[in-house]
Amino acid sequence: MSCAMRAVFQWAALLVPALSVLIAAAGCTEGEDGARLLRFVSWKPNQPEVWDEAIALFERENPGVRVVREIAPHSSTVYHDLLAQKLKNRDPSVDVFLMDVVWPHEFASAGWALRLDEFFTPDRRAPFFEAAVEADTYRGGIYGVPLYISGGLLYYRKDLLRRYGFEPPRTWPELVRQAEAIRAGEKDPDLYGYSAQFKQYEGLVCNMQEIILSGGARLFDAASGRTFLSAPRAVEAVRFARDELVGRAAPRGVLAYQEPESLDLFIQGGAVFHRNWPYAWEAANNPARSKVAGKVGVAPLPAFEDGGAVAALGGWHMAVSSFSRNVELAWRFVEFMTGERMQKFFALRAGVPPARRSLYADPEVLERNPHFAALREVFENASPRPRTPYYTALSHILQKYFSSALSDRRSDIASLARRADEETAALAARYGYGGNSAGASFSGSFPP
Ligand code: GLC
Repeated sequence: MSCAMRAVFQWAALLVPALSVLIAAAGCTEGEDGARLLRFVSWKPNQPEVWDEAIALFERENPGVRVVREIAPHSSTVYHDLLAQKLKNRDPSVDVFLMDVVWPHEFASAGWALRLDEFFTPDRRAPFFEAAVEADTYRGGIYGVPLYISGGLLYYRKDLLRRYGFEPPRTWPELVRQAEAIRAGEKDPDLYGYSAQFKQYEGLVCNMQEIILSGGARLFDAASGRTFLSAPRAVEAVRFARDELVGRAAPRGVLAYQEPESLDLFIQGGAVFHRNWPYAWEAANNPARSKVAGKVGVAPLPAFEDGGAVAALGGWHMAVSSFSRNVELAWRFVEFMTGERMQKFFALRAGVPPARRSLYADPEVLERNPHFAALREVFENASPRPRTPYYTALSHILQKYFSSALSDRRSDIASLARRADEETAALAARYGYGGNSAGASFSGSFPP
């Protein structure tokens, strides 16, 4: 079987692990034309052409090397499960992969991500944001290299806010009031107030973390692994999201929206406000894609009266598979993509915030992304999701809870929250969790 064919079969074979092992056994590090093959697994990017160009550049500068890509669906949750299955099978057809900021502890403790200490040395880590490097650090080792950082932001229709004399809302209730006033004035049945990500997947955790923490509640205690979903403030914040956002400012369709669908509504002119990651700026202001190009402003997300604005820390990192037979070449690719030149390229072309601090003083980056200067602080202070080797299992409990609380107008939020707290406590106990945010005293084995 040719390597290209094999790549196609790889995803299909995930459903039949035995088949995957057979295919992997036929693994090749060389193409039929003698090229050295480097296998790179990622999600479906928002701007595929930008990635195509970056990879073509790497190939041009590394004659004789060909990057074979496997592209999974866009959802972080779906991509995680496909990738984890491959790594669990010790599939040697993965050399390098993109890793969500919340995965390194799981991938390190499971032995899937290669420890990179000898490549990504402390002096090479210094130019990156500390929080991003910390996310890649597990029990003193380093398992990934930050490609870009991210944080939730509020996009708004500058033209509409101006027409009604509004400043970007500082509180969630203000956002709802402004949206209602604008909708009443515009009399456009296709204009909604708010668009965000409320489908049951990883993005829902980010959206709800922002809403809950911005009301002054806590979500997670790193030392015990406990969650505080049933604390009154947390319940109140979820009730607000159910009744005022999902049930009022936003169309009910948001319950099925991930980033692309929610962005689409906004750039079609269908929403006054939109929560998304920084890349949405490029898309919303690109006249080839957006009906509202030039009419979009961006600000920190709102908070509740007695809280403060919170952005969930997002971002993607690059890691080398522990089962790669091509480690030197894999590292060359990671180093190339995460270097200053390519981080600048991605910032200019895809509007993603670099993980390297120096680029925030780069005039071209700032000209293209004027909001980076003011919002750098938002990215830097963004609130991380829990860092634990069992984050994925924890996230599934949170996703299920948020989704059932939001999608049924009569849901008994307090009791659903209590049940979710019990489930997360049982999970923490099962994993023997007694660690801190660096995972240093996680005492269980993974997977259990
Ligand atoms: C973005 C973030 C990532 C997050 C995901 C959720 O891709 O960078 O960290 O998990 O959105 O949808």
